[in-house]
Amino acid sequence: VDGQRSRYKGFWFKPEFITASEAIRAHYKPLPSDIILASFPKTGTTWLKALTSSILRHSSTTHSDHDHLDHLNPHEVVPFLEIEVFGENPSKEITEISSPRVFNTHLPLSFLPETVKTSGCRVIYITRHPADTFVSLWHLYNNKFGTEISIREAFDEFCKGLVPAGPYFEHVLEFWEARDRVLFVTYEDLKAKPEENVRKIAEFLGCKTMVEKVVKDCSFENLRNTSKERGEGVHWSGTKYDMFFRKGVVGDWKNHLTQEMMKELEDLADLKWRGSGLDLNIFNTTASQ
Ligand code: A3P
Repeated sequence: VDGQRSRYKGFWFKPEFITASEAIRAHYKPLPSDIILASFPKTGTTWLKALTSSILRHSSTTHSDHDHLDHLNPHEVVPFLEIEVFGENPSKEITEISSPRVFNTHLPLSFLPETVKTSGCRVIYITRHPADTFVSLWHLYNNKFGTEISIREAFDEFCKGLVPAGPYFEHVLEFWEARDRVLFVTYEDLKAKPEENVRKIAEFLGCKTMVEKVVKDCSFENLRNTSKERGEGVHWSGTKYDMFFRKGVVGDWKNHLTQEMMKELEDLADLKWRGSGLDLNIFNTTASQ
C-alpha cells in the first residue's frame, strides 16, 4: 500500500528493514534475560508493549532493576526495526541497553538469529484474526496516506501478502510452529480474559506482578488518553502515536468486509495452515460463557 517494499526470504519489507534484519542476525546475541515482543503489524503490538513494561515495573521480583523502564510509554520499547537506532552494526547499541533488554519486532522468526530459539530468551508473539488485522491496517494507511486504493484492492494485496511484514499467514505460522518456546497470545483472548493473560505473561517472564493494576493501566482508554496527553508524538516509522489507538475492539471487520471476503480469508487459512494444527478457531474465545 505504501510502495517501496522488497521481498526477502518470502516476506515483504522496506529495503532498510531488510538491511537491519541482516545486521541483527549477524550481531545480536540473545541473552537469557532478553524479552522479545514479536507481532505482525496491527495485531496488538502496542498493547503487548505496554503490558510488558507495566508487568515488569510492577513486578515484585527484586533481583533485577527495572528503573530504566519507568519512563517508557508503549512506543518506546526499543524496536528491532529501528535502523536509526541500531545502524549497520548494532552490537554496541544493543550491548549498552540495561537488563532486561526488551525488544519488539515485526520480523518473522526466521529473520531472527537461530540462537533466539536456544538462548533461553523469552519470546512473546501476539496475533489477531486476519479480518480485524486487515481492517486495522486499512484504517492506518487511510489515515497516514489518504485513500489511494479501494478497500477491495487493499484486501487483495493483504491476501497476496503484499503488506509490510506480509504475508500474514506465513508470519503467524512461523511463531505457531515454535510455540513450545514462544508464548503465543491472541488479541481476542487478551481482550476477553485480560487478567488471565497478564498472569500468564508475568509467569512466562518469571515474575509476579500487580495483575489488576497492569490491566487497568493498559486499558485501551488509558493508553489512548495517555498518548493524547503527551501530545503530537510521532513514532519513528512516521505514524503519529494516537494512530495506534483507533477502536480497540474485536469484530470490527463486520463493518467493512463482506461475507465473501471473510470466506476468502477462511479459505486462505485452510490452505496455508493445513496440517499445522493452526486454524482460525484460535481466535474464538469462550470468556463470556
Ligand atoms: P484497531 O485499529 O482495530 O482499533 P498495533 O499496536 O499492533 O499497531 O495494533 C493496533 C491495534 O491495537 C489497533 O486496533 C488499536 O486500536 C488496538 N489497541 C491498541 N491498544 C489497545 C488496548 N490497550 N486494548 C485493546 N486494543 C488496543
